[in-house]
Amino acid sequence: MTPNRPLLTLRPTTKLNTMKNLITIAILLLSPMIFAQPEANYDESKVPKFPLPDPLTTFSGNPIANKTQWEENRRFEIFQFFERQVYGKVPDRLDEYSFKLWEESDDAYGGKARRKQVAISLTKNKRTITYNLLIYLPKGNPKAPVFLGYNFYGNHTVTDDPKVPITKAWVSNNESFGITDHKATEATRGVRKHRWAIEKMLDNGYGLATIHYGEVDPDKNDFSDGLHQLFYKDGQVKPKTNEWGSIAAWAFGLSKAMDYLENDTNISDVIVFGHSRLGKAALWAGATDKRFAGVISNNSGCGGAALSKRKFGETVARINNSFPHWFAGSFKKYGNNERTLPVDQHQLLALVAPRPLYVASAAEDRWADPKGEFLSAYHASKVYALYGKQGIDSPEMPAIDQPLQNTVAYHIRSGKHDVTDYDWEQYITWAKTFVK
Ligand code: GCU
Repeated sequence: MTPNRPLLTLRPTTKLNTMKNLITIAILLLSPMIFAQPEANYDESKVPKFPLPDPLTTFSGNPIANKTQWEENRRFEIFQFFERQVYGKVPDRLDEYSFKLWEESDDAYGGKARRKQVAISLTKNKRTITYNLLIYLPKGNPKAPVFLGYNFYGNHTVTDDPKVPITKAWVSNNESFGITDHKATEATRGVRKHRWAIEKMLDNGYGLATIHYGEVDPDKNDFSDGLHQLFYKDGQVKPKTNEWGSIAAWAFGLSKAMDYLENDTNISDVIVFGHSRLGKAALWAGATDKRFAGVISNNSGCGGAALSKRKFGETVARINNSFPHWFAGSFKKYGNNERTLPVDQHQLLALVAPRPLYVASAAEDRWADPKGEFLSAYHASKVYALYGKQGIDSPEMPAIDQPLQNTVAYHIRSGKHDVTDYDWEQYITWAKTFVK
């Protein structure tokens, strides 16, 4: 393109030029329509008739009859597809990683909880990133199960506890929190505590481990910082087409946290949890790392629990357009082209089998397609059946606020896109029965 070229060049009036002028004007007038995002579909009757790929038939058409065939053959090919074409591959191994327990106390939450703060450092090519794991453990339970999940605005936002430092990392701007320069301030302490029912967890014998996702990989489309750049070869500025986007980087960060948690003698099982984009990351972490004893997806939507081929609410094209850094470059080709995807998200859920899996929706969260999230859990259930585990038996959605809890669990809560006490009450009840 020529620099400084005017947007609209009208030519002197000859017949041909009049035509050209008219065409130029028409293109300008129509361009908002041509380039605008299409309206999201919220009409069930417009959901395309889609054949869903069968978790129990291989890409080459062979039936899978038992869990050995699933594990040795089908699971692997599905996993590889998600790894190369959806979330992207981790390019290499780290050179080094380490953990430093830099703060510990047994007087958190009025003496009810033990608090630990651990710095996790990951090194590759002489470059290091460090992120902080904040842990609360119930003192009454010497070896407690924990929920591990990312928070959006810093560890200090999940609690009023003054011993948790304000994150120095990138945070998303948020007017209502007074964040305008991607920096968190003291004013944001505790602003997200309603999303983390910490006292409920503690009272039920559970702990919480949480990390600010921006310390692992800032959520922006530049790839110059966070985890990705550790792995660059000279001159490289972004991952290769089939390599990891941010969701896979966040999942990797959770796995490294697991390396610490599995060696903490006060911790038993780790259940990985995530809301929304971080629910997508929790699912991919659960698929890639079998040490997670259970997986919870809260309102994870498109690219998470929701079926892509349903095209209801957010679509593959929309998500790749709005968040180009979340997935592998190779996932872009499926935008407006979902039919050609040889997998769908129920098969991501199936990768968690036979471990307990909870998918939760919110009734007003149509953007995340509650029905698509439910059907995905339903269609994943046939893989759980290979292990004799009960999943979701009926394709009929349960009523609002009527949880269905088996090894695969689902609820649709009344209200909007959020994490509420109601959600946590369900997760705790379910975990007590199914995650052992
Ligand atoms: C956007 C995005 C969703 C995502 C959500 C979130 O709405 O389109 O895919 O889940 O943000 O993370 O809050």
